[in-house]
Amino acid sequence: MTALKLEKVCKSFGDVEVLKNIDLVVEDGEFVVFVGPSGCGKSTLLRVIAGLEDATSGTVDIGGEVVNDTPPAKRGIAMVFQSYALYPHLSVRDNMSLGLKQEKQPKAVIEERVDKAVKMLDLGDYVDRRPSDLSGGQRQRVAIGRAIVREPKLFLFDEPLSNLDAALRMNTRIEIADLHRKLSASMIYVTHDQTEAMTLADKIVVLRDGNVEQVGSPMELYNNPANQFVAGFLGSPSMNFLSKSEIPIPDGATLGIRPEHLSLTDDGRIKGQVTHVERLGGDTNLLVMSEAGETLTVRQFGQHDANVGEPVGLDFQDQNAFLFDQNQQRIAE
Ligand SMILES: Nc1ncnc2c1ncn2[C@@H]1O[C@H](COP(=O)(O)OP(=O)(O)OP(=O)(O)O)[C@@H](O)[C@H]1O
Ligand SMILES: [Mg+2]
Repeated sequence: MTALKLEKVCKSFGDVEVLKNIDLVVEDGEFVVFVGPSGCGKSTLLRVIAGLEDATSGTVDIGGEVVNDTPPAKRGIAMVFQSYALYPHLSVRDNMSLGLKQEKQPKAVIEERVDKAVKMLDLGDYVDRRPSDLSGGQRQRVAIGRAIVREPKLFLFDEPLSNLDAALRMNTRIEIADLHRKLSASMIYVTHDQTEAMTLADKIVVLRDGNVEQVGSPMELYNNPANQFVAGFLGSPSMNFLSKSEIPIPDGATLGIRPEHLSLTDDGRIKGQVTHVERLGGDTNLLVMSEAGETLTVRQFGQHDANVGEPVGLDFQDQNAFLFDQNQQRIAE
């Protein structure tokens, strides 16, 4: 069975079209990530699925049932927001129980489900605390716990990690992946962070300006981007795009090469000069200004003793290069 099916979903605010004809299927148990730049419509799409916004047209089907006219509480979904949205005057346990109390679930059921979620999220030491006495990461776990106890068919996450610092973000990301494995529930996760998208998703949906640019597994999109936008959005550092290089490029076309596919070699086809060196310890990123006047990022494994101002030659294997036409669409080789 499919967990979610969107058909030709459009959403306008006044005469501003924010979502344009979105078609999408989420399979049972799948982890789907919506990724795209700020303002592209990710949260709006999630809110339409949740029922917090009405679709202007099109159908939203959850678990085989069209839910366009079903209120959010009856859609079998639970949503986790960036801002946690916890009740400050309630303890962790009461925050997690509240939704079930409102559903008038029996006390024993509430207790059992909350205990299970507390254990799963390792919140045992904090059940009696108020949210203000928790760290950001712990608060986010409570917010996730509140979703888990509802046992939804579909989890919706809207940038749940963006308030956390880098180390905690990585830990919580791993916890969410682990949670997905344990619950084997369907999840939709919104982020503008390509690393989160690449590391969490079974399936990534790349959005831009209210359109779906491409859908596929992380490696499908990385290895086979349909257009220059997807190619540039996924991968860090980003793909290099060249249009006036020493390499012969068809008129109007753009050549794309990922930083890890460029090698330093004295007789390389691209000549240039090092303009900046980023030493990350495990990796070194060199910025190189080519003789044609384009900046390229070169990713070298390990530590590298390049210096700013040094002349270098760069090259790549032709099978690792991508070509895009003047409309930024991929030209198949
Ligand atoms: N209630 C509203 N009224 C009018 N315009 C809105 C409303 N809600 C969202 N928008 C507009 O819709 C577009 C998409 O917004 P949305 O919040 O879905 O973007 P997003 O992809 O989630 O961005 P971010 O990464 O910044 O959270 C934006 O241009 C936004 O200004
Ligand atoms: Mg948003």
